[in-house]
Amino acid sequence: MSDDLLVQSHTGPYRVIFDEGLLGALGRVATAECHVLVDANIARLYAEPLRDILANPQTLQIEATEENKSIERIVDVIRLLVDNRIRRHHTLVAIGGGVIQDITCFIASTLLRGVNWRFIPTTLLAQADSCIGSKSSVNLGSTKNILGTFHPPCEVHLCTGFLDTLEEKDVRSGIGEIIKVHAIDSANSYDRLASDFGRMATDRELLRTYIHGALRIKQRFIEADEFDRGIRNVFNYGHSFGHAIESATDFAVPHGVAVTMGMEIANRVSTLRGTLSEANYRRMRPMLIENCGAFALTPVAVDSLLAALAKDKKNTTDRLVVILPVGDHAAITRVEIANDAAFRQQCEAALAGLRV
Ligand SMILES: NC(=O)c1ccc[n+]([C@@H]2O[C@H](COP(=O)([O-])OP(=O)(O)OC[C@H]3O[C@@H](n4cnc5c(N)ncnc54)[C@H](O)[C@@H]3O)[C@@H](O)[C@H]2O)c1
Repeated sequence: MSDDLLVQSHTGPYRVIFDEGLLGALGRVATAECHVLVDANIARLYAEPLRDILANPQTLQIEATEENKSIERIVDVIRLLVDNRIRRHHTLVAIGGGVIQDITCFIASTLLRGVNWRFIPTTLLAQADSCIGSKSSVNLGSTKNILGTFHPPCEVHLCTGFLDTLEEKDVRSGIGEIIKVHAIDSANSYDRLASDFGRMATDRELLRTYIHGALRIKQRFIEADEFDRGIRNVFNYGHSFGHAIESATDFAVPHGVAVTMGMEIANRVSTLRGTLSEANYRRMRPMLIENCGAFALTPVAVDSLLAALAKDKKNTTDRLVVILPVGDHAAITRVEIANDAAFRQQCEAALAGLRV
């Protein structure tokens, strides 16, 4: 039976193709009328399988940095694509992680009023989470993900062979998003993942099962709420705090690890506000702390955290919108809270709790 997924979107269905032979046949996904945007690290690490693609003058290599997914830097990429005579019937192909995805998706949704794009995710985070869901998120200077569009890919080709070369911090980052998706699914899903957590980084078949499972869970939410107006909001669990940590540490903490720290902070804040039991907090904590590793010790000033939280695009005019686990089943829930002295104290305690 095929593992492929068919995801419904406002532009029609698109397929996620699980293709473990992809590394030997990359030419299949980058045909003549394609412009490939490839992560420069992937170009170095996979020079042989990518030889024909890299020899094509239309291929652009991009360093996967947060600076490069700013609107200011993306203009240079658009200029190169225009110089390379991109046309509306051409396809952009992204080969890389979430950064290359965001750059490609954003350009594909705006250039020539929209061109198709295809995605080959090469990080665990992109394979298990970001490759579906239509979103592009782009930075304005150092303000993270403040610009964006909804423009699904026409196809995703997923090969876990790329994960062999990932650095440990990027494996943790991907596992962070897998934890998030399972927390959203149910307490049972979370606990099952927690019991497998110790084997995830070394057992490829197990990891593949969780990648597939995470995408299946996310698929339910994005098909019901592609434009993030309702139930999809819960996918921001860990993200308001996580983005704040990324900004406060100048992106020294990888995205999915910051999200893991953000989930731990959200849980602690919820317990201190009386909306999550101490028992539920204790149940969830070990996997989160373990996945953070030494990053949990990164100093984050409460003032930087609060300043970054105040900029979050989900906020209403006078209240902060955060996603917290709530109630007996730790249901991941959208909550509006006042940015007051009590919240500041709760954040301070939660930040201190990361380092214990
Ligand atoms: N659009 C969305 O839906 C969405 C969702 C989640 C996150 N994001 C964004 O994604 C970004 C994070 O993405 P990411 O975690 O995939 O990281 P990334 O794209 O920043 O890549 C992380 C590092 O891994 C390297 N790399 C990529 N593939 C590799 C491989 N196979 N082997 C070795 N090194 C490899 C990259 O060069 C980079 O140094 C953030 O900017 C985040 O905001 C977007």
